Amino acid sequence: MAESIEGLHRTHRCTEVTNDRIGQTVTVMGWVQKRRNLGSLIFIDLRDRSGILQIVFDEPQIGGDGFAKAGTLRSEYVVAVVGTVAKRTAAINEKLATGDIEIIAKELRVLSEAQTPPFPIEENLQTKDELRLKHRYLDLRRPDLQKNFILRSKVCKSIRNFLDEEGFLEVETPILQKSTPEGARDYLVPSRIHPGAFYALPQSPQLFKQLLMCSGFDRYYQIAKCFRDEDLRADRQPEFTQVDMELSFVDVDDVIDVNERLIARVFKEVLDIDIPVPMQRMDWQEAMDRFGSDKPDTRFGMELCDVSELVKDCGFGVFTGALADGGSVRGINVKGQASMGRKQIDKLVEEAKGMGAKGLAYLGINEDGTYKSSFAKFMDDDGLKALTEALKGEPGDLLLFAADKNKIVWEVLGSLRISLAKKLDLIPEGQFNFLWVLNFPVFEWSDEQNRYLAMHHPFTMPYEKDVPLLLTDDKDKAKAKAYDIVLNGTELGGGSVRIHQDDIQETMFEALGFTKEEAHERFGFLLDAFSYGVPPHAGLAYGLDRMVMLMVGADSIRDVIAFPKVKDASDLMTEAPTPVDDVQLKELSLQVMQSE
Ligand code: AMO
Ligand code: AMP
Repeated sequence: MAESIEGLHRTHRCTEVTNDRIGQTVTVMGWVQKRRNLGSLIFIDLRDRSGILQIVFDEPQIGGDGFAKAGTLRSEYVVAVVGTVAKRTAAINEKLATGDIEIIAKELRVLSEAQTPPFPIEENLQTKDELRLKHRYLDLRRPDLQKNFILRSKVCKSIRNFLDEEGFLEVETPILQKSTPEGARDYLVPSRIHPGAFYALPQSPQLFKQLLMCSGFDRYYQIAKCFRDEDLRADRQPEFTQVDMELSFVDVDDVIDVNERLIARVFKEVLDIDIPVPMQRMDWQEAMDRFGSDKPDTRFGMELCDVSELVKDCGFGVFTGALADGGSVRGINVKGQASMGRKQIDKLVEEAKGMGAKGLAYLGINEDGTYKSSFAKFMDDDGLKALTEALKGEPGDLLLFAADKNKIVWEVLGSLRISLAKKLDLIPEGQFNFLWVLNFPVFEWSDEQNRYLAMHHPFTMPYEKDVPLLLTDDKDKAKAKAYDIVLNGTELGGGSVRIHQDDIQETMFEALGFTKEEAHERFGFLLDAFSYGVPPHAGLAYGLDRMVMLMVGADSIRDVIAFPKVKDASDLMTEAPTPVDDVQLKELSLQVMQSE
């Protein structure tokens, strides 16, 4: 039967009971990790969020009834213990913070009994994710996850302190917003009072933070929940958290400066790691050319090399065909892997196809200088030698080539580079490589929509010199004052300088194919606001979940979100989303279509 804590007051968390308290009486409360009976003594490991403390039940100290009660304790019972701190006489545990002391219990109360949990509450648990997430409240009891959330809380505190010192105001923006689809799919909320009308949950506070600049708030930040109905991945959840900021009267370098100091401060305060500033910067074009990615992992080499010039006249139709279509041929050098067997190479080709390639050409340089290759027969010796030299190939190396439109070549080789580095263990541990990627193109062509889209969003400022390009056929050459902050190959955050001049904004809408009326229908409130005096402004948002994931060394943001969703965007514990009853639907003037 569960007892109450009436009359008791917790004096310490488990690991706050330290050596210097020997002889004192303390009251601790927590969960039974395990119980051991040793004849006339019963030991339990008591666990709370701080760690583990050993409790000893000795019949003469606790009395017969208390001793009998201690004998009934099982894992995950919740107990309160009053006792005396003592030095351990035996079984000193070097691994525990409290490993050389124990509590000699004088009083025990069982506050709650517990069923046997479906998995043990322990560190580095190997069990099915589904089971863990179904019982997330138990999963979260595990010390490794508790550590993640303690760190997450410290990160938020450190960010808040820094931004406060720098004169930022924390302002909340609405969760029920107007739907302005551009970017990911919106989550919609039906309105009861306005049948047939919907709010959208924010994909980010973007437009509101710009309005706050119009209102004169000057420097804004918010730790904001965002919602995007997109496919889930290890670093993507349908609801996630941004550290969102906006600043008035600034340009690119000002935003970078304050954010470099923010990151250095957080890493120092939370992990005691010195992050060198200023951080490395790279042009978007260089990132694509060298790494095939706008979020390059710079912890290892295997950089891409454009060999289009070298193969333009060769006899291999795959290469020349891609070049004739306006594409390129690029390669990477997988050092020391020429010995890879045919089967493994075929697997790589399949992997490349999965990434969108039509194929993958290879040139292995045997130790004796001969080649094994899918295309050597189409090239003369000089051609092969030139390719080898371009990729700094040495005997034993495996050169891989993709030929296609630039976008596909970058995607395929950029992804293969990462996947091979993981497989071949080329990525050094314990390194934090920060990198600013700058000067993104303003536009990105969408095959799906058969039109140009804004690569960041339609309010991103082009470089002044590129404004004249916006309405020409060269619009894809226009570069934006947009920047991403990348950490070890993950896009940690991104932002831009915004357009504050209405003529540039109108040009931008025109270039994106919006008529004036359409632009006003969607963003009229912002354009109106700008007509009353708007300061030049710029901002940035971090994915907080990604930041914490990388700081704790987790593989997925799921490990740093208390109640995450799984791949199909459902919550295995509450089973959301669930159908709602007809009364609710009727109130909202909604009807669900029967799926066929
Ligand atoms: P962006 O769309 O780049 O910019 O988002 C900023 C950062 O948010 C994180 N992020 C995500 N994290 C987890 N799950 C997701 N589904 C997800 N989507 C994005 C990423 C990303 O870098 N309003 C602009 C910022 C600005 O211009 O100021 C914006 O939202 O780490
Ligand atoms: P195929 O002519 O399609 O039989 O291809 C000959 C070789 O070229 C095979 O090894 C293919 O994997 C490779 N290959 C095909 N298409 C491409 C491509 N777009 N880029 C690189 N290699 C390719």
